[in-house]
This record gives sequence, structure tokens and C-alpha cells, in this order.
Amino acid sequence: MKFGFIGVGLIGEVLVRKIKAAGHQVKIANSRGPQTLQTFAAEIGATAVTVEEAVQDVDIVFLVIPQKNVADLPKHLFKKVKKGTIVVDVGNYYPLRDGVIDAMENGMVESEWVEKQIGYPIVKVFNSINWRALDALSLPKGTAGRIALPISGDDAHAKEVISKLIDQIGYDPYDAGKIADSWRHQPGSPVYCTNVTREELTTWLPKVDRSSLPERRNLGVKLHLELLEQDIEKNVKSYGQAMRNALLKERI
Ligand SMILES: NC(=O)c1ccc[n+]([C@@H]2O[C@H](COP(=O)([O-])OP(=O)(O)OC[C@H]3O[C@@H](n4cnc5c(N)ncnc54)[C@H](OP(=O)(O)O)[C@@H]3O)[C@@H](O)[C@H]2O)c1
Repeated sequence: MKFGFIGVGLIGEVLVRKIKAAGHQVKIANSRGPQTLQTFAAEIGATAVTVEEAVQDVDIVFLVIPQKNVADLPKHLFKKVKKGTIVVDVGNYYPLRDGVIDAMENGMVESEWVEKQIGYPIVKVFNSINWRALDALSLPKGTAGRIALPISGDDAHAKEVISKLIDQIGYDPYDAGKIADSWRHQPGSPVYCTNVTREELTTWLPKVDRSSLPERRNLGVKLHLELLEQDIEKNVKSYGQAMRNALLKERI
């Protein structure tokens, strides 16, 4: 399949490498222009392009940019995409990074906000796994302990296509419902960055308390910064365990 990436930072680069290694064609774009991506593109056999080119003549577009920057994408970017193009959003809202965005502070589901900005339906997935974990913890299908990734969207076919991709790159896809339900795997959810399995997702997704998400998200940020400070963040196993100990709980 043909992929277009907008955003090739920490998690974008991991996704691009894995999708390229799985045998797909990939175009990559960032905010500074294709000339800044030439070396990486040559290394992995991708093509560096502009944001506008990244969405043209592809099957799947990945949006992997800070949430606030979605509002800065070129107007009508998705107006002329090929029929059936699937758009995947990997982003999360962090006020510390994105500034305060009133709609989401007032409880709007993050993915619904993204859809409104770009005027196109999305599939939300890969938002709930840390980039180092995504890079290091893939496992063959059927292996005990394989991490499962919640996927939300309103288009069943699009979710099916992306679910196959998730499996192809080493993770279990888990249908988390419609876009309106995708708050269940936003930052602050017990299943966010805690490297849950399919069984754990089945247990935990129905228990997520929406009202507690902002407070839990902020505690997650505090813990992340502490783990960075202690140099534990680089150790993918210890980092994941610390996150699970602190956040895979109904109440914190
Ligand atoms: N890091 C993680 O572990 C992780 C895990 C799951 C989800 N996420 C979410 O994924 C998103 C990306 O995170 P990240 O950590 O990869 O961020 P990052 O390292 O800061 O990379 C951001 C990427 O987005 C590009 N970008 C920013 N604004 C753009 C624009 N207007 N047009 C085109 N490209 C633009 C940047 O390009 P330039 O450098 O040229 O500006 C850069 O390639 C965030 O929403 C984050 O919350 C992150």
C-alpha cells in the first residue's frame, strides 16, 4: 500500500520505519520542507515531499504531529484526496505542549476536534503507546503478552485495513468503538502508555472514567518527567512497568 506521513518526529519515525520494513511505499513530510528529510528518506527508501504531496495518491495518510498544529495544516488539504483514502491520527492533546484549547478543555473528544479541523473522518490509533515501546516491544501474533492497541473510528472498512497493519507490525488491534468513544484511550486513561494486552483492554476500556482523564493525564506527565529525570525513561521495560504501577488503576 501507499502511505503519506505528515510528521516524522519521535513516534512518526518509528512508524515510518516499521511500515517501510513491512514492504509498503512511504512518502514523508514535516513542517520545514522535504529538504530537511532527504537523509532519513534515503536511508529507509522513502520519498521526502511537501505536506500537500503527502496526501496525494496514497491509500493511507498518517497525521503524527502535535495536536495544536493540526489547526495549522493547509486549508482544504483533504478536499482532493483519492477516494477511499484513510486518515490515521496518532496525536494527543497536552495543554503543557499545545496550550489551552477551549473545545477540549470543555470536554470535546480529541479526535472529534481533529476531524473538525481537517474536515475529514479519521481513525485514531497508536496514540496510546510510547514511541520507545512501539519501537521495541512488537511480538509475533499469538505470543503471550503481545501489546494490544485500541483503535477507534466510524468507518468499519478503514478500521479493518488499519487493524491488519497493526498486526503486521507486531501488535494486536482492538476495536475500541466509534470516534465518539475514543476518549477511552486518550491521555489519562488507565490503558494509556501502560502496554496492555488484549485481555487487559477488554477489562479496562469499559471502566475508564471520563471525568478523571485530565487529572490522570497530568499525573502521567509528572511521572514521565520524573522517569526522564531519573534516566529510567530510556529503559523501555522499567518505564512501562512504572507507568503500569502508577496508572493501570481505576482511581489514583
Ligand atoms: N512521542 C510519543 O511517544 C508519542 C506516542 C503516541 C502519540 N504521540 C503523539 O503523536 C504526535 C507526535 O508526537 P512526537 O513525539 O512524534 O512529536 P515530535 O517528536 O515533536 O515530532 C513532531 C513532528 O510533526 C511535524 N510537524 C509539526 N507541525 C507540523 C505541521 N504543521 N505540518 C507538518 N509537520 C508538522 C514536525 O516537523 P518539524 O520538525 O519540521 O516541525 C515533526 O516531524 C503528538 O500529538 C503526540 O502527542 C506521541
